[in-house]
Amino acid sequence: MRKIILLGYMGSGKSTIANSLSKNIKIPFVDLDKKIEEKTNLSINAIFEKHGEIYFRKLEHEVFLELLHSPDELIIGLGGGTPCYANNHELLKGEGVVSIYLKASIETLFQRLVVNKSKRPLIADKSEGEMKEFIAIHLFERSFYYNQAKYKLVVDGKTIDQTVADIMGFLA
Ligand code: S3P
Repeated sequence: MRKIILLGYMGSGKSTIANSLSKNIKIPFVDLDKKIEEKTNLSINAIFEKHGEIYFRKLEHEVFLELLHSPDELIIGLGGGTPCYANNHELLKGEGVVSIYLKASIETLFQRLVVNKSKRPLIADKSEGEMKEFIAIHLFERSFYYNQAKYKLVVDGKTIDQTVADIMGFLA
């Protein structure tokens, strides 16, 4: 069954857009990070702290595969790093997969993340000054993977409804 996958940097709006899309097209939304938290009974922060990032990446890959192999039609919201590890970026191009990159500018991401970083271990301890440069470099490194998505959608300055309507256009 079809999998609609939303990907993009932290703060690009994956969960917000996926929730709204899910209500509009009546297909269940599964958030990969939430699924990992449920399975481990640990927060993402706690997984990074106790076991380290590599452990998290392995888990992330396993849970992503599980969701891809589920018999249900699903909307899957990835974590910001998911496409950049293991062969996850290749899976974005698989049969029955509609992958959509929510592309946000450094400025948009900075504005959103600077007020919302505590649950994100990769940026939680960064100062405002460090954050912009970090996002710029990190986004540059990750763009190769994000660009493997079938569709790319610029989200800057768009309302949730506009972005959801654009995605529904891809799915039609
Ligand atoms: C990460 C993004 C997070 C989460 C983890 C690592 C990343 O998800 O998976 O903190 O590597 O960019 P969000 O993109 O939902 O914040």
